[in-house]
Amino acid sequence: MRGTRIEIRPGALRHNVRRAKALAEGAQVFAMVKADGYGHGLTVAADAMAGEVDGFGVAVLEEARALREHGVSTPILVAEGFFDRDELAQARALSLEVVVHSSWQVSLLLEDPGPLRIWLKLNTGMNRLGLRPDIAQEAAGQLAAAGMKPVGVMTHFACADEADDDRSDTQMRLAGEVAATLGLPLSAANSAALIRYPHTRAQRVRPGIMLYGSSPFDWQGAAQLDLAVSHRFSARLIAINEVQPGDTVGYGATWTAAQPGRIGVVAVGYGDGYPRHAPSGTPAAVNGQPTVLVGRVSMDMLTIDLNGIQADVGDEVELWGDEVDVDKVARACGTISYELFCQITGRPERTIA
Ligand SMILES: Cc1ncc(COP(=O)(O)O)c(C=O)c1O
Repeated sequence: MRGTRIEIRPGALRHNVRRAKALAEGAQVFAMVKADGYGHGLTVAADAMAGEVDGFGVAVLEEARALREHGVSTPILVAEGFFDRDELAQARALSLEVVVHSSWQVSLLLEDPGPLRIWLKLNTGMNRLGLRPDIAQEAAGQLAAAGMKPVGVMTHFACADEADDDRSDTQMRLAGEVAATLGLPLSAANSAALIRYPHTRAQRVRPGIMLYGSSPFDWQGAAQLDLAVSHRFSARLIAINEVQPGDTVGYGATWTAAQPGRIGVVAVGYGDGYPRHAPSGTPAAVNGQPTVLVGRVSMDMLTIDLNGIQADVGDEVELWGDEVDVDKVARACGTISYELFCQITGRPERTIA
C-alpha cells in the first residue's frame, strides 16, 4: 500500500459548525459546502453537519442536485443562481433558493415567472457579482410585481479577513440600508465576518472555511479559534538517502546540502494535489517530529530533511493536519487553505474517521 491518505473527520466538522452556531447567536446558519465541501466530500460534509444547520450553500445547481439526490431536504442556497432557463426550471423543481446577482437573471425571471425563493445579491463594494443597490431596489419591485418578491438580500465581503479592513463596515451599512428599505432579511457574513464582526450576523450567516478547521486570519490560528482539524493529509516514507555537502536534491537541483545528512523521500506529489510550488522550508512532520521540505515537489514524490529525526522507511509523514497547521503550509506556498483542500486529486485514499 502506498499509504497516501486524506482523513476526513465528521466529528471535527460537527464541532466546527457548532462553533459557528454559537457565534451566530440565533441567526440562521447556512453551511457552505460548495466545491465538494471544500474538498472534504460534498455529502460527507453535509451528513456531518445535518441537523446542526438551517441549510447548505453551494455555488452551482449541479452541487444542489447532488445534495437533493443524496436525500438532503433542508433549504439549499445556490450562490451563482441559475445560468439559463433550463436551470431556472430545475431550481424550481428542486425547491432551491437561488441568488439573483445580475440583471440578465432578472429579465429571465420576468419572462418566465413562477414560484421561487430568491435572494437578491447586492454589490456593496466587492465588484464581482451583485446588483448595485439602486438597481437591486428596482429589480425587487419588478419581481414583486410579477409575483416573485425576493425572500432576502445578500452581499459578500471583500476584506473581512484582512488585517486592515476599512471596507466591511461600509459594505454592511449599504446592505443594511437596502434590506431595511425593502423590509427583507439580510445575509452577509462569511467565516471571517462571523468570527470578527458581531454586527454583520444579521438574519443569516454563510460560514465556509471555519467549518473545515482553518482560520480565515493570518494573525490567529485555527486552534486559537477553537476549530478542530477536519482534513488530515499524510503519506509514507519510501526511501531514505544519505547526502554529502554539495549534493543537490530533486528536479532543477534547487536545494544543496550544506552538511552530511539524510533525506526522506515521501510518496506524495502534485499528482495527489500537494502543491508543486511548495518551496524548500515548507513544514511537514514525521512521527510527530517537525521537519521541512527540501527540493522541488515532483508528481509522485517529495523530499524532506531527516537530520536529527528518528524515522524509518514506511513511517508516516504528515503533510497537514494535527502536527502541521494547514494554514502554515498554505502561507509557505503563497496560497490559502481553501485552495489546498480543493486541489487534492482522486489519487490519495480517502478515509472517514
Ligand atoms: C457567497 C459566499 N458566501 C459565503 C462564503 C464562505 O466564505 P468563507 O469560506 O470565507 O467562510 C463564500 C465562499 O467563498 C461565498 O462565495
